[in-house]
Amino acid sequence: MAETLEIRGVRILKAFLDRPAQEALVEDLRRVVRAAPFVTPVTRWGKEMSVRMTSAGRYGWITDRRGYRYEARHPDGQPWPPIPDRVLRIWDEVTGLDRRPDCCLVNHYREGARMGLHQDRDEADFGWPVVSVSLGESALFRIGNTERGGKTESVWLDSGDVAVMGGPARLLFHGVDRIRPGSSTLLHGGGRLNLTLRVVD
Ligand code: SIN
Ligand code: MN
Repeated sequence: MAETLEIRGVRILKAFLDRPAQEALVEDLRRVVRAAPFVTPVTRWGKEMSVRMTSAGRYGWITDRRGYRYEARHPDGQPWPPIPDRVLRIWDEVTGLDRRPDCCLVNHYREGARMGLHQDRDEADFGWPVVSVSLGESALFRIGNTERGGKTESVWLDSGDVAVMGGPARLLFHGVDRIRPGSSTLLHGGGRLNLTLRVVD
């Protein structure tokens, strides 16, 4: 691991995963995506999101015209595949907790994709941290406040970085402004994968 940054209480473990570990993770995720294909989510208002999503674990996070929620099944009716062991071990190592996450949301960003500022607040207990893993092209990650508005700070998340939002940072607004095309050779088709690990209930 290269260094740990701390921005507004968000811990960013730079280069937590080396290249072979990132490649192994991508292989695991290929299996997840075969079992639970990416979908292009739409918001309650019918607007398509620019990221594609799928999940692993007991719950998947979805959004459609009925709104945001966790579901025990992929929209195709199948249960979500299990969270790969390698992913769970990252959670164990960075959180030191006995409780493991129920959901591994997989976001795929292609060129031009972004994620607006939001809070992660569909979980029952905000005492558990959120862990996010970045793979592939770098993303400009924006960190705000616990209320909407106010000054924000941005940081590049590169392939292999792991971010932890826990304690007072658990409910900070955050989002991705853009990804930097060509900044990584990890994913054959380019783009970025982000894994978000959360305890749901
Ligand atoms: C998210 O907060 O849903 C995704 C964050 C990221 O892609 O780094
Ligand atoms: Mn989020």
